[in-house]
Amino acid sequence: MKDRPEAYLDYSASTPVDPRVLAAMMPYFSEVFANPSSTHRFGRQAERAIEDARATVAAVLNCRPSEIVFTGGGSESDNLALRGAAWRARASGLPSRLITSPVEHSAVTETVAQLDQLMGFKSEIVAVDRYGLVKAEAFAEACRRGGAMASVIYANNELGSINDLPKLAAIARDSGILFHTDAVQAGGQLSLDVERLGVDLLSLSAHKFYGPKGVGILYVKQGIDLASALTGGGHEAGRRAGTHNTPFIVGLARALELAYQERDERLAHFQKLRDRLIRGVLERVDPAELSGHPEHRLPSHASFVLHGIDANALLMHLDMKGVAASSGSACKTGNPEPAATLLAAGYSAESAKSGLRLSVGRNTTIAEVDYAIEALAEAVEKLGKVQREWAS
Ligand SMILES: Cc1ncc(COP(=O)(O)O)c(C=O)c1O
Repeated sequence: MKDRPEAYLDYSASTPVDPRVLAAMMPYFSEVFANPSSTHRFGRQAERAIEDARATVAAVLNCRPSEIVFTGGGSESDNLALRGAAWRARASGLPSRLITSPVEHSAVTETVAQLDQLMGFKSEIVAVDRYGLVKAEAFAEACRRGGAMASVIYANNELGSINDLPKLAAIARDSGILFHTDAVQAGGQLSLDVERLGVDLLSLSAHKFYGPKGVGILYVKQGIDLASALTGGGHEAGRRAGTHNTPFIVGLARALELAYQERDERLAHFQKLRDRLIRGVLERVDPAELSGHPEHRLPSHASFVLHGIDANALLMHLDMKGVAASSGSACKTGNPEPAATLLAAGYSAESAKSGLRLSVGRNTTIAEVDYAIEALAEAVEKLGKVQREWAS
């Protein structure tokens, strides 16, 4: 029993490692420790664990094991996809335009910005609607002008909205443009069947689905020749150098396998709590508006614009009450700037400083949700009063 009530509602930022995942990882720290690239039997044992993990991941993604690249996390996967494809396009004399959206995670936007500013690529940012979803017509128009690759987030980390990937990927394919998706938030919740989605490249990160931090996946469709962004030994078929992190790779695969074996049950739990949270906040907290799509959104994800309330100050008040929340992506929390995602979705600069994300997880209880709603209502009321006094 905790002596003070608490509610961790920031599972979109990170999830705890499942004890079954931890148990699967343990032997690979000190028993099966050899370098998986070594040719002796000890090395081969570690290599076998990595190849088993690769096969497990490939089964969930409905792809070939050889199409899976293990990386050091979601940011690295995004970097490898974008830089690897852009550099390869440059070497082959292909167009240098990179098509993306204004609501991508910073691992994508910053990589595209660097390619634009330092490497002579030209980025084209396609408009999104009020929910942060990419407008298909605008995307098609951008693709018709040609490009090296397009990158569109699967489920948005700040708004929870889910893009129609099969449609967008088909548009890119028709224009001969490689299509990458950052599926980091979608991992463990939405279908990752790459055949159905029609994507060429897809990024995932284990710590969003009850696996360890610092390990991720990049799916690379067979036949796509990425330039390695990390050069060295020929690991991962020359696509990502560095001695394999055997325990983390084993943990990632076990976490992904469990997430999809138990998906129906997990999603039912998330959805029930998320809907209770949304209902409660809209009823109890004035002036809360649901942001992101009301239906096409991640089952675990609720987000709001609390008009007139400074989100960063609110996060501190919530923290004092034991409620863990976020004003957007974890990487941006504490940043006094208006959220670029909300601005792109058409919110004013003022409203874009009032974004709040609450995300539920496997351990979330009804009591936690109810406590968080009351704590939020109190904090907003108090903060609103203080802000009004300051303004008068
Ligand atoms: C959509 C999205 N992409 C990429 C990342 C980065 O993943 P990682 O933390 O594994 O680097 C995150 C993490 O929050 C994310 O939400």
